Amino acid sequence: MDYFEHNRQSWNELTSLHVESSFYELEAFKKGNNSLNHIELEELGDIRGKKILHLQCHFGMDSLSLARLGAEVTGIDISDASIKKAKELSKEIDIPATFIRSNIYDIKIVSDDSFDIIFTSYGAINWLNDLDKWAKIIQQNLKPDGKFYMIEFHPFIYTLNDDWEITDTYFNNKELVTTVKNSYTDNSNVSKNNLKHVEWHHSISEVINSLISNGLNIDFLNEFPYQVYNCFPNLIETEKGKWVSNKFGDKIPYMYSLQARKI
Ligand SMILES: C[S@@+](CC[C@H](N)C(=O)[O-])C[C@H]1O[C@@H](n2cnc3c(N)ncnc32)[C@H](O)[C@@H]1O
Repeated sequence: MDYFEHNRQSWNELTSLHVESSFYELEAFKKGNNSLNHIELEELGDIRGKKILHLQCHFGMDSLSLARLGAEVTGIDISDASIKKAKELSKEIDIPATFIRSNIYDIKIVSDDSFDIIFTSYGAINWLNDLDKWAKIIQQNLKPDGKFYMIEFHPFIYTLNDDWEITDTYFNNKELVTTVKNSYTDNSNVSKNNLKHVEWHHSISEVINSLISNGLNIDFLNEFPYQVYNCFPNLIETEKGKWVSNKFGDKIPYMYSLQARKI
């Protein structure tokens, strides 16, 4: 099974739904809203003048938000539709950025003059099967002392079903193949039948050890008792922008962020 080909096709289909969705608030973004959340904005700090590589940039809202803050951004994504839309958006709002359509595993060196920061966020690494290879690509594309920053859904969340019962193992190293029926944005129906998503869930230790064994030092790892998006079933909003399980509240981890530095 060509996992990445399935994902390329399903993300092509999802992109048009996401562009139209209320979840992504594209119109507000075009008017100047920054699509990044307060956590990554604060943890990234001042990015003016920084050369940033954004892995799995989807249709470019976060990449262009980084560019709006003064960074020189390159975004990479496997989806043709996402990259096409990202380029259109960049033109439309007149914020320059470079967008490349590629499986990140097919790109070894993105630029001869490497990056100050590599960034990836929310729902990215679960589309990757080999974190050792991923960490190598990060290491190869960072300047010495360059920063890798990620913010992701906590892998513990993936052990739970829609009713917040533990139904899956935390230590899942097998591919998970599902038929795409709807999207996290607003449950829009996906029109084509038999589109498949292939995912891999990665434990925290797997993420950290892949970075360490590829020459990165961990600066920090933070875990959060809430979710910034209403993108899983049965979440309730306890404060603006803080979503938790209707069963567990703030007793479990929902997201984590991590910064590492090239030695
Ligand atoms: C959930 S989205 C990224 C989330 C991002 N924070 C956002 O909401 O804009 C996941 C993205 O990963 C991309 N993707 C999946 N597998 C990939 C791969 N092997 N190489 C590059 N991009 C990939 C998909 O096309 C999709 O745009």
